[in-house]
Amino acid sequence: MTVLTIDAGTTGVTALMVSENGTVLARGYQEFAQHYPDTGWVEHVPEEIWQATLAACQTAIDAAGVQPACLGITNQRETAVLWDRKRATAPRRAIVWQDRRTAGICSSLREEGHEERITELTGLRLDPYFTATKLTWIARNDERAWKGVQAGDVAIGTVDSYIVARLTGGARHITDASNASRTLLYDIRAGSWSPELCELFGVPMEALPEVVPSYGALGETSPEEFLGLRIPIAGIAGDQQAAMFGQTCYSPGTSKCTYGTGSFVLLNTGGEPVAPEHGLLSTVLWQHPDGRLEYALEGSIFVTGAAVQWLRDGLGLIDSAPQSEALATSVPDSGGVVFVPALTGLGAPDWDPQARGAIFGITRGTRRAHLARATLEAIAFEVRDVAEAMTKASGTELPELRVDGGASANNLLCRLQADQLGVSVARPRIQETTALGAAFLAGLGAGVWSSTEELVDTWKLDLRFEPGERDEAAYRRWREAVERSKGWADL
Ligand code: G3P
Repeated sequence: MTVLTIDAGTTGVTALMVSENGTVLARGYQEFAQHYPDTGWVEHVPEEIWQATLAACQTAIDAAGVQPACLGITNQRETAVLWDRKRATAPRRAIVWQDRRTAGICSSLREEGHEERITELTGLRLDPYFTATKLTWIARNDERAWKGVQAGDVAIGTVDSYIVARLTGGARHITDASNASRTLLYDIRAGSWSPELCELFGVPMEALPEVVPSYGALGETSPEEFLGLRIPIAGIAGDQQAAMFGQTCYSPGTSKCTYGTGSFVLLNTGGEPVAPEHGLLSTVLWQHPDGRLEYALEGSIFVTGAAVQWLRDGLGLIDSAPQSEALATSVPDSGGVVFVPALTGLGAPDWDPQARGAIFGITRGTRRAHLARATLEAIAFEVRDVAEAMTKASGTELPELRVDGGASANNLLCRLQADQLGVSVARPRIQETTALGAAFLAGLGAGVWSSTEELVDTWKLDLRFEPGERDEAAYRRWREAVERSKGWADL
């Protein structure tokens, strides 16, 4: 039996066909457009996400030459999507997780004294990153779309809900608990939408999806809508939680870092949420079909791989992202250059939506190789910042860090990462762990696999990077540079 998995990420959709022994048989990928209509705004056209989903799935299925038995979905989290329940058309563009336009709404709510209660219920913090203030913004600024919401014609959801609605021809309006836990509207202990928070943010509860477990019998695709296929939708999880599942981080104390647009470090904390101190978040990892919730501590770093992309697209310094490794290796160090890639503000552990990117220490001797090296170093420093916060919050040292995602193929980055963390960094053979995790969830949900023990055996090591000497002076310069980048957008 083959599992089809959709990873609807921030910049494109990946589809994988995964075999029963956990290997990837075939893949498809389709990028979609990013829209930046104003400073700090990031939007997606929902129809483009759906068309990219169809194209990626068609490619993967054709290449595998077999029909899938079931489907798993994973997705960029937090992004707010609205669509018409009957026609499936979207009345407006989606507001993406990276979008900073609601910084003012967050500040007002903070000044009114709401943050502590919000954190207590959700494990999150008041930041534009999460879905709720994006919905508040739509309610205040897009009268036409919001009237549809109030009338019950327009549904609200994150990208997973939208894709399920399209796959099922509008028959299912659902989200899984891991995605719900990223909205600021979900009570992570009660395991349900919070009426108190829906009222605070002005979101009608009836417009929200039903929250379902992360695997099991969740729905069925409509052949008229989805490539002629009628298959069970058997797994859904937010992309970082799915990556944990794909990395087989099933027991408390296990952790991973996914290097994508941003980087997200998650630590499995078991059946109880841990207080989200030191700039971390407490979030649902997944929900089992019997209703049991498991939790993680998360350090969400907004810009890591996107900084390498910026070297390529913004500066034209490299032709491709992998080239950053050769360029950065051509110099022994960054020559004193420190790059703070706060291109969309700062996430964990510093949380400053008004911070902006900054490059310090440039001299006449600075070359593009130094900037490439400073970029990779910045990623390693950012991950060290959140790993140290995790040690403080959980009271335990990370025994190792499993890594995945595009930039984990960069050996220099993995080496710098191990040095900075002081623990070994383990890279699996399959680095598309996010999509793989959604396949594992769906396969468990549909009976392809019977338990997580079976899945643990599919994890195979590619390379382990042992820590060497760490450059503490460089890390101190990094922390100083981070402080100096804060509040820049306010000046
Ligand atoms: O929380 C945002 C995250 O889900 C986005 O992940 O991989 O699309 O950058 P990615």
